[in-house]
Amino acid sequence: MNIVICDNYEDMSKKACDLLVSCLQENPNGLISLPGGDTPLGLFREFTAAVNSGNVDISAANYVSLDEWVGLGIDDEGSCGHFNKVNLLDKLEKPFANTYVINGAAEDTTNEKDKLNSFIDVHGPLCVSVLGIGLNGHLGFNEEGVCFDSEGHITALAETTRRVMRKYFGDNFNPEYGITQGLGQIMKANTIILLANGAHKAEILRKAISGPVTNEVPATVLQNHPNAYIFMDKAAAGE
Ligand code: GLP
Repeated sequence: MNIVICDNYEDMSKKACDLLVSCLQENPNGLISLPGGDTPLGLFREFTAAVNSGNVDISAANYVSLDEWVGLGIDDEGSCGHFNKVNLLDKLEKPFANTYVINGAAEDTTNEKDKLNSFIDVHGPLCVSVLGIGLNGHLGFNEEGVCFDSEGHITALAETTRRVMRKYFGDNFNPEYGITQGLGQIMKANTIILLANGAHKAEILRKAISGPVTNEVPATVLQNHPNAYIFMDKAAAGE
């Protein structure tokens, strides 16, 4: 694991974006995946600027979203897809060659999960997987107890996830399930970039980086990856 402690959120976002851009410059046909959540917003801004200024050409590259709340689609505010669309995909002056955003509102969620896996089979493996980390150590919606070699799947959300998600939805929406890329797909990425900022992430980061590798803390699997980078601000590095 490569641990990169950054001065602040902006520095973290910029350094992570520089790595993402350099991976795409080396592999212009690559498949990349970006998460939802609050953490990647700065990286989205940096990446949009890099694409729109011509610093990186994504016309042959492919994009897949990481995860989604079951019940929400790309047009629903608070969904990961909506966040990806509004903050990234709609802002790119030139699109990716192929884009797949998970539709959590699909009636047939099994079919939706199969479509996600097919897209990754066709365009993958991932060149870069960008991730955030949940307070229980989840990556995407790979919750406690998940198989390390899982593919895209539908999962019951952990208690912690359901508590934290109130910051997105308040009392308006209370999803019980998520659709997510699996850890097996994430771990096949050439490069993994995990972002974490804020003191509230310090304890789980410490476990992820130096705790025993266990599926009870899914992010510990990154200790087994040969090319994983963890970018954090000083507050998240606190412990
Ligand atoms: C959410 C998402 C993840 C995200 C993580 C952290 O529940 N499923 O993809 O990375 O939790 O979110 P945040 O960046 O808002 O802390």
